[in-house]
Amino acid sequence: MANTILVGAQWGDEGKGKIIDVLTEEADMVVRTQGGNNAGHTVFLGKDKFVLHLVPSGILRRGKRCIIGNGVVVDPVSLKAEIEGLRQHGVKVDGNLFLSETAHVVFPYHRELDAQRETLKGEQKIGTTKRGIGPAYGDKAARTGLRVIDLVNPPRFETLLRRKIQENNEILKAFGARPLSFRKVLADYRAAGDFLKPFVTNTVRLLHEAILGGANLLFEGAQGTFLDIDHGTYPYVTSSNTTSGGACTGSGVPPNRMDRVVGVMKAYTTRVGEGPLPTENAEIADMLHALGREFGATTGRPRRCGWFDAVATQEAAMVNGIDDLAITNIDGLDTLDVIKVCVGYRLGRERVDCVPNDIEQLTKCEPVYVEFPGWKTPTTQARRWQSLPVKCRSYLKAITELTGAKLLIASVGPDRRQTIFV
Ligand code: GDP
Ligand code: IMO
Ligand code: MG
Repeated sequence: MANTILVGAQWGDEGKGKIIDVLTEEADMVVRTQGGNNAGHTVFLGKDKFVLHLVPSGILRRGKRCIIGNGVVVDPVSLKAEIEGLRQHGVKVDGNLFLSETAHVVFPYHRELDAQRETLKGEQKIGTTKRGIGPAYGDKAARTGLRVIDLVNPPRFETLLRRKIQENNEILKAFGARPLSFRKVLADYRAAGDFLKPFVTNTVRLLHEAILGGANLLFEGAQGTFLDIDHGTYPYVTSSNTTSGGACTGSGVPPNRMDRVVGVMKAYTTRVGEGPLPTENAEIADMLHALGREFGATTGRPRRCGWFDAVATQEAAMVNGIDDLAITNIDGLDTLDVIKVCVGYRLGRERVDCVPNDIEQLTKCEPVYVEFPGWKTPTTQARRWQSLPVKCRSYLKAITELTGAKLLIASVGPDRRQTIFV
């Protein structure tokens, strides 16, 4: 399999967790490289549902090593709870999970500032997950953050945390928010630090040793291309590089060690949080929500839904260098008479064939659609390409060609077995 970077090609929640779980069979190591517990990656093992936030989804397969890389921002209290939850469900998390000592730490003041800034923005809010991600990456870029290496050094941590709490309490007071108790934060974080210490290591060296030993690495992207801090619909984005380059900087594995990029996309489009979504459509949203689908894995918020946007996925293929595509949630379209695909935008009198960087322009873009006949047959039992309805295959071929990559996987349900290698 060699070294594979897997990214979301839309606005997140493309089904990366499921596809990671499938591809992990062939991998030796699974690596998270960016984002934090804003991510929610769902994997079904039979009837058991797991939602992974910080721990790579590869943890659910025995004998695989999982890495939380330097580019991730880690809420240690949340990570401790996630590991405990996995263990309670009989998942081995011991000797198979490694946490980078240079990953940055998310603190309660990051979460509180995230919430306060959202409130202040009012109608212009981003609709964040309120996990403190933006403020944590902000501290990292401002060189005022604390790292895992500080967390697991108790005397140093106490000194650094005292200063940080003092400073951030002044800011919180200015917002009219309640200041934090240094003692409480120290106690909670020291307990989490002690718990996490056995996992902490130099993951850059670990990864390079594994590469020298011939290991196959799978890089698990979080969020999606249009939530990327550089390439997304700024400012309605997250605070990390969700595109394929983030896998290199977030792990210390250089570009010339990467062999392929897999892009995951839904057969339609979803987005959770605010910001432009050109193909948004109430009918398809109502249909999917009525089936109990498309509620956020992290926050439970209903996801906004729309038709497949090929302008966006074509851009995603370009920016990420996507070689292979995994298309998920095909079964979500099983009941439709007509399926629309956006192949361009109209901006006033102009036709636009790429995603405008100007958010005001993007907001005004009207999708230009082509229509496909629906297959109106359940696809969830299909296990081979040839078993999919002809109209379904034509639709998948069309959106693959419009995106400009090769179709590798067609997914017709959340279970591992509902996966067709094309
Ligand atoms: P991620 O963040 O990209 O890992 O995606 P999420 O887990 O947040 O959301 C994807 C949702 O789609 C989850 O509920 C998955 O179980 C589900 N899912 C993934 N692939 C398929 C599929 O092919 N069909 C159906 N019905 N559900 C799927
Ligand atoms: P996975 O990995 C979908 C969205 C939030 C908000 C914006 C900024 O499960 O695909 P943040 O909390 O990161 O500052 O929020 O990004 N967002 C996601 N949307 N899937 C995710 O992760 C997301 N992580 C963040 O809803 O619009
Ligand atoms: Mg998700």
